[in-house]
Amino acid sequence: MKNRRSALVTGGCGFIGANFVSLILQACPEWRVINLDKLTYAGNLQNLQGIEEDERYRFVKADICDSARVEELFKEERIDTVVHFAAESHVDRSILGPAEFIQTNIIGTFALLEAARKSWQSDSWQGPEPCFLHVSTDEVYGSLGDTGYFTESTPFDPRSPYSASKASSDHLVSAYFHTYGLPVRITNCSNNYGPYQFPEKLIPLIFNNSMHGKSLPVYGDGKNIRDWLYVEDHCEAIVEVLKNGENGKSYNIGGNNEKQNIEVVTLICDILDRKIGLPESGKPRRSLITYVADRLGHDRRYAIDATRIREELGWEPKMTFERGIEKTIDWYLANQEWVANIVDGSYQKYYQEMYEAE
Ligand code: NAD
Ligand code: TYD
Repeated sequence: MKNRRSALVTGGCGFIGANFVSLILQACPEWRVINLDKLTYAGNLQNLQGIEEDERYRFVKADICDSARVEELFKEERIDTVVHFAAESHVDRSILGPAEFIQTNIIGTFALLEAARKSWQSDSWQGPEPCFLHVSTDEVYGSLGDTGYFTESTPFDPRSPYSASKASSDHLVSAYFHTYGLPVRITNCSNNYGPYQFPEKLIPLIFNNSMHGKSLPVYGDGKNIRDWLYVEDHCEAIVEVLKNGENGKSYNIGGNNEKQNIEVVTLICDILDRKIGLPESGKPRRSLITYVADRLGHDRRYAIDATRIREELGWEPKMTFERGIEKTIDWYLANQEWVANIVDGSYQKYYQEMYEAE
């Protein structure tokens, strides 16, 4: 892959996308980055403060399902690289209302694939060797029992509307490689954690509730297992796949950090008790843990076999969960205003102030 790139990053105002935009602008000084984001409830421009001034960066507020706008952008910016994060990403929301998941995750991915195909396979295409990297999840493989790991050849068996919509988009991306020879790569990663995660997901939700003396909801028996991947490790893996991956292949990315949910929740409580002292009640934050009704179709265990990316691309996660969770808690403690702006909804005004001021 040549050094100069004009990259379309979709969903760059979300948790992983924002971390990725920051990383890529630092790691690849010759890249131009166009961040296309609809600014749904999960999109937060405050995740990119400071980056707006970088002349290699442009933000475009648009829906990936808007094919005319997406195609126009491909032409206007001569997009040669797509890193596709934009999605509806929360399983609980997909259970309550699947329609947006079908729309964005399937139809939106289709719109991007079509735009890439039209642009890169036209006679007038003169850019470098293009690449479409689709960011997906290990949840497409379904649920594991006590043993075993997901490999890239594990059959898809999605259980939630979220994972079904992601599996569907993975199939479409793969079909565009086989049918049209579109240069695609797919990554399937495990649960991310770290700075800028929206406080509806387990770790930031538990942080926020325990800071405010609210109950800490643990679904079912709390023994469901997730493999936690520090977001910076994930973003570095994506850069590796972009630079040295092979078209038509998918790469599993995991953190080697399998933990039961209850272990994660109690660890956050204990870290907070140690760092900032017990709450006013004088009781350890663990006392706020409340077992609640289980999530419908709750996948029991996810675990990744990341042999392919390790052996073929030399990538391995650097962060242990013990260090990563300390770093994450420190970040949330130092950025309580960021959380408060989400909780009171004021983060959504930032767009008007930044982009619609005059
Ligand atoms: P997120 O929910 O934090 O952010 C999603 C972003 O996409 C937001 O900025 C939102 O505004 C934008 N978006 C949503 N619909 C859009 C649309 N129609 N058009 C344009 N932009 C739109 O998500 P995340 O946690 O950062 O996840 C990013 C990607 O990584 C997703 O594709 C997700 O499936 C995948 N993934 C996430 C995890 C995880 O643990 N968070 C794990 C595996 C895979
Ligand atoms: P989540 O962060 O929503 O990620 P995912 O569903 O994609 O794995 O949830 C992580 C785990 O934590 C999952 O097993 C569900 C559980 N969970 C709770 O027990 N309580 C909560 O309040 C949330 C949001 C999740």
